[in-house]
Amino acid sequence: MENLGFPKGFYFGSATSSHQVEGNNRNDWTEWEKENAKVKSQNVKLNPPAGGWPDFILQKYPNPLQEENYISGKACDHYSRFQEDFDIAKSLGHNAHRFSIEWSRIEPEEGKFDQKEIEHYREVIRALRERGMEPFVTLWHWTLPLWVSQRGGFENRETGAYFVRYCEKIAQEFKNDVTFFITLNEPVLWASNAYRIGNFPPQKKSFISFYKAFRNLHRVHAQTYHALKKINPDFQIGITQNIGYFDSVLFSPIYYFINFFFLKTVTFETDYIGIDYYRKIPFLRKSKPNSDIAWETYPQGLYFVLKEVWRRFKKPIFILENGIADAEDKNRARFIQEHLYWVKEAIKSGIDVRGYFYWSLLDNFEWEHGFWPRFGLVEVDYKTQERKTRESAKIYADIIKNSKLT
Ligand code: BGC
Repeated sequence: MENLGFPKGFYFGSATSSHQVEGNNRNDWTEWEKENAKVKSQNVKLNPPAGGWPDFILQKYPNPLQEENYISGKACDHYSRFQEDFDIAKSLGHNAHRFSIEWSRIEPEEGKFDQKEIEHYREVIRALRERGMEPFVTLWHWTLPLWVSQRGGFENRETGAYFVRYCEKIAQEFKNDVTFFITLNEPVLWASNAYRIGNFPPQKKSFISFYKAFRNLHRVHAQTYHALKKINPDFQIGITQNIGYFDSVLFSPIYYFINFFFLKTVTFETDYIGIDYYRKIPFLRKSKPNSDIAWETYPQGLYFVLKEVWRRFKKPIFILENGIADAEDKNRARFIQEHLYWVKEAIKSGIDVRGYFYWSLLDNFEWEHGFWPRFGLVEVDYKTQERKTRESAKIYADIIKNSKLT
């Protein structure tokens, strides 16, 4: 038994994003999913992982060989079931929750805000507060209204003005209800996938497009920050940055670019640093995967990342995502325990870490992979929408309650 003794007021929770859980969205992703689902299901058929797909994945629905897997569709129907889902989070002792607002719902047509959807998110925020959970609100988690993507998305400099206008609207509406905002989720990782690797819409492979998007995202964050602070100077505003642990110094220029360059450009426009930490990225050797999507988890890496971020920025840190795809729930409990151990070590050494959010509350639509990877504390049966709390979620709950690790 290790007494962790997290600081008073430390936030423990989990995270989701609108497109991955809500269901029935209409945005750039939904269109892209429909166009690509068939090819994707066939490609995985041709390229199974070494040794083939494990049975426990193929027996679940939908699985990587099925077209439905790649279409977000109803997702977890969280749009209608958020109250029930927050009841589960509350029963697990969470005192905070991160979720995102879907821009395409709020502004489905240029300049026309849908008040009904704003009221929906007001209900979501109220539901969290009623359950004693602090809302952490992401303003953009990778999806764009169709009218924005049709005009070139973040490659187009004008998108900055559209985005700020949408954020101002949200901030006006919720200025007394929300303290913590995340403007952009993992802008660098998103831009790399959308414009370099070609995994996300618009699926380009162009350095120029990548550069334009990168530059615009940086501007967009800075402008949004100042616009929101004018509405309420007490807002706490940041971004999230996906920071992996790279295991070689030879990696350092790439490491610097991927992990810190963007953060550096927005240093003056962040009240805190939001970190999404998942894994170790090996350089010369092969990865030793221990998650269903072949990532190599490495809890101690989180400690090194926290140290590095603190050394560079000296700002409060929130871990806004940390999770594992583990359909059989074999490794998740240990994953959470070990990461929290290193979070506590970081706090002991004087680093100002203020919260930990497991990714994710629910199994959900995992972007280019579709539904088969299972990240949830809560298992979702996509046919019936039945929720089943996993054992690991109870162990996380126990850590929260007793501040102890076994
Ligand atoms: C993203 C999430 C995603 C998770 C697991 C993060 O980079 O923000 O939306 O589900 O990684 O891949």
